[in-house]
Amino acid sequence: MIVMQIDLSLIGMEKGKQYETIITTHDSENNQNGAPIGVICSGPDKVVCRIFKGSHTLDNICSQREFVVNITHDAELFRMSTLGNLPEDYFTPDDSIKDIGAYFKCEVTSLKEAVKQSDPIKKKGEAIVIKADVVDMVIRNDIKAFNRGFGYVVESLSNYSRFDLVDEDKKEEYIKAFREAKRVVRKIGYRKDIKAMAAIEEKIKEKGYDV
Ligand SMILES: Cc1cc2nc3c(=O)[nH]c(=O)nc-3n(C[C@H](O)[C@H](O)[C@H](O)COP(=O)(O)O)c2cc1C
Repeated sequence: MIVMQIDLSLIGMEKGKQYETIITTHDSENNQNGAPIGVICSGPDKVVCRIFKGSHTLDNICSQREFVVNITHDAELFRMSTLGNLPEDYFTPDDSIKDIGAYFKCEVTSLKEAVKQSDPIKKKGEAIVIKADVVDMVIRNDIKAFNRGFGYVVESLSNYSRFDLVDEDKKEEYIKAFREAKRVVRKIGYRKDIKAMAAIEEKIKEKGYDV
């Protein structure tokens, strides 16, 4: 269905939370491109993303000032668009991915050099923060945008449940993995995810390990 009133909550997007999507764009010669990009919901019809310089996606967004956000949980689409490009026949003429669960079209309202860096990427000033308004939305099924927090919680719980069964090297591995999971969940997870990670941390500490 084409949604008359644009509202990102219809696809499960909450203000301030980040979702993993596939952004599709085109260049001035209408070559179409897809790439996974984290999209932050900043209002019912507003999004923000931060894209590193050197990608086709950023070049196309800067030159065309528009892009499409595709909502999917399909690993193949994520794989193809990260390790190469999606094949030409995967795109519709309006840049969305054919038969995708939901998508919305965005128009850029501002482009700014990124100053804040809250992830492990070393180089600063190498990214652009894009703010955009959602101008069209199509929902085909009841798909919700994908947030990575829950996956990290399940993985951390799974590792925790094996903690007493593994040797010290493996425990160290689990603790490193937990620290990274905690960093990501704090940044992008829902309150429930953050609470779960705090509880796991507590349990690991009770076993005498520092996390
Ligand atoms: C799940 C996921 C999320 C990503 N999020 C971002 C992001 O928010 N910003 C960014 O610059 N790159 C992000 N990337 C990396 C780009 O997708 C990757 O650099 C891609 O190759 C760029 O392709 P392009 O040159 O076709 O635009 C992400 C990758 C994955 C797998």
